[in-house]
Amino acid sequence: MRRKLVAANWKMNGSRAANAAWLTEFRAQRSPCETVVCAPFVYLPQLAEALAGSETAVGAQDVSEREPGAFTGDVAAEMLLDVGCRWVIIGHSERRALHGESDELVAAKTARAHAAGLRPIVCVGETLAERDGGHTLQVVARQVAAVLARCGVAALEAGAIAYEPVWAIGTGRTATPAQAQQVHAAIRAQIARVDAAAAARTRILYGGSVKPANAAELFAQPDIDGGLIGGASLIARDFLTICAAAR
Ligand code: 13P
Repeated sequence: MRRKLVAANWKMNGSRAANAAWLTEFRAQRSPCETVVCAPFVYLPQLAEALAGSETAVGAQDVSEREPGAFTGDVAAEMLLDVGCRWVIIGHSERRALHGESDELVAAKTARAHAAGLRPIVCVGETLAERDGGHTLQVVARQVAAVLARCGVAALEAGAIAYEPVWAIGTGRTATPAQAQQVHAAIRAQIARVDAAAAARTRILYGGSVKPANAAELFAQPDIDGGLIGGASLIARDFLTICAAAR
C-alpha cells in the first residue's frame, strides 16, 4: 500500500515574515499524511529549522545537475542536504517552459539528486495543444522514459512523479479525476514494464489547480497517490485541508 504524499510548491512566493506566519498556523495541527514543503532556496534554512523533528519535510524547487564547483548561481544537491532539505522538485513545467529544461537535463538533475541522497519529485505533463492534438500519453511517456533511461526506477521509487498537465496549472482548470487517473495508470504501467514491484510502490502525484474542494475526489483515484499543490498551498489552512483529504 502506498502512503499518500502531499507536497506544497510555493513557487516564487514567500517572505521571512509570511513564512513564519504560515508555519505557526501549519504546526498548530498535525498533518494527517506525509507532507513536504517546497520553497525558494533562500528560505529553506528557515523552514528546516521550524519543521525539524516534525513529520513534514522540506524540499527545494530545483537543483543543479552538477557537482559543486565553478557554476555561478547554481545550487548543488549537497548544499540542499546541508541546510536540512530532503526533497527536490525537478522538471516543473515552469522550468521546462521558461528555462528551456529538456527531458535530458531533467533526467540528469534527477540522477544527481538521487545519487546525492535527495528524493526527487519529477514533474511531467502535456500542454493544452498537445492534449488537444491527442498526444497526451505520448508526451508524458517520452518525459518519463528519459528519466527511466538515465536513472532506472530507483530514483522515482525513492521520490515521486508528479503529473501536472500544463493547462491545469494556475488556471483554475483541473483535470477531471478520470482524465488524471488515465495518465497516472499509463505512467505506472510504463514503470511496471521495467520493474512491476517498484511501480506498485512508486507514488504518482497529481498537480494542477488542486483545491480543498476537489482534492478528495482526485486522491480517491486508484493511481493518484497525493498531490503537488501550488496556489492553494500558500494558505496554511487550505493546504492542511488538502492534506486531510489524502488521509
Ligand atoms: P497550482 O496548484 O497553482 O495550479 O499549481 C500546480 C503546480 O504547478 C504545483 O507544482
